[in-house]
Amino acid sequence: MKAIAINNYGSVDEFHEIELPVPTLAPDEVLVKVKATSVNPIDWKARLGYLQKMYPWHFPIVLGWDVAGTITKVGSAVHDFKVGDDVFARPDIYNEGQYGTYAEFTKVKQDKLALKPSRLSFQEAAAVPLAGLTAWQVIVDRLQVKKGDKVLIQAGTGGVGLFAIQIAKHLGAVVATTASARNADWLRKLGADTVIDYHTQDYTQLLTDYDAVFDTTDDIANGLKILKPEGRLVTIAGHPADSQKTAKPSAEAWWLQPNGNQLAELGQLINDGVVKVIIDSTFPLSVQGVRDAQQKSEGNHARGKIVIVATDN
Ligand SMILES: NC(=O)c1ccc[n+]([C@@H]2O[C@H](COP(=O)([O-])OP(=O)(O)OC[C@H]3O[C@@H](n4cnc5c(N)ncnc54)[C@H](OP(=O)(O)O)[C@@H]3O)[C@@H](O)[C@H]2O)c1
Repeated sequence: MKAIAINNYGSVDEFHEIELPVPTLAPDEVLVKVKATSVNPIDWKARLGYLQKMYPWHFPIVLGWDVAGTITKVGSAVHDFKVGDDVFARPDIYNEGQYGTYAEFTKVKQDKLALKPSRLSFQEAAAVPLAGLTAWQVIVDRLQVKKGDKVLIQAGTGGVGLFAIQIAKHLGAVVATTASARNADWLRKLGADTVIDYHTQDYTQLLTDYDAVFDTTDDIANGLKILKPEGRLVTIAGHPADSQKTAKPSAEAWWLQPNGNQLAELGQLINDGVVKVIIDSTFPLSVQGVRDAQQKSEGNHARGKIVIVATDN
């Protein structure tokens, strides 16, 4: 199969097309023909070599951890999915480093899979798993946001932030978010109650007595300043000091745990029109397409998700 891989850590020029064997399956895995994938900041951080201490990958490395596609083969222990099912997932990050989603095929464990919401295209579905599940797990599981809670969601225009705002509003929260001024009206239409221009305004001077902060920008010390004593901050971008973890208000770090059942629940909310999938731009699944998509993500001003679409659909 064709895959877009890197042979060294470095710039987007490291991406090249290579031939790899189609992944072989463990009993609990399925093979998915990739129809679309998406870019997350972890992809370009990995390309730059920042994840070397976390993962013992060896070159060539295939990046990409969102997939929407069709099952072409199932392992012997897979019972809930069958060949021909249209699915989406945030696959595991395998230690070999070769089963990313910038490829013709990828493999996914059945407990990470969900059926693609019927109202979504493959492009839209590929925009959901990593960012959507991260938002779900932080807002619903870690912060346990409930009706009336005051919640600050940093970087509301980002892939994660857009899902987090919509999920928090669905739960009845009062949502403040940070963004560039040009995105303020648009974010208000999407449900944000307060939009703070992080270029010109200091949110610690504007927000007080908050119940929860979702930190996506590694701004932990400031986030803690706006919380009630019993308030909680969860960061997906930084590392709280031990003293911040045990203090009141408290901070904790979270790393996404891919989960097919939760993805199905989120998919239902999307199918019902409660949560919208916002796509910033799409690129073809080609060497140039992957280079352009990663550069766009690295620019740090995407409005929603950057999607990569297979060209042989
Ligand atoms: N721990 C985990 O499991 C996990 C999972 C997913 C993501 N992450 C991390 O979470 C972060 C966000 O991910 P993402 O996918 O949402 O990124 P993204 O889509 O690339 O975020 C881009 C957005 O960030 C906004 N932004 C940039 N700097 C900002 C600042 N100082 N304050 C407020 N907004 C700012 C920009 O808004 P404007 O254009 O309006 O300025 C832009 O819309 C990344 O660092 C990513 O690696 C971690």
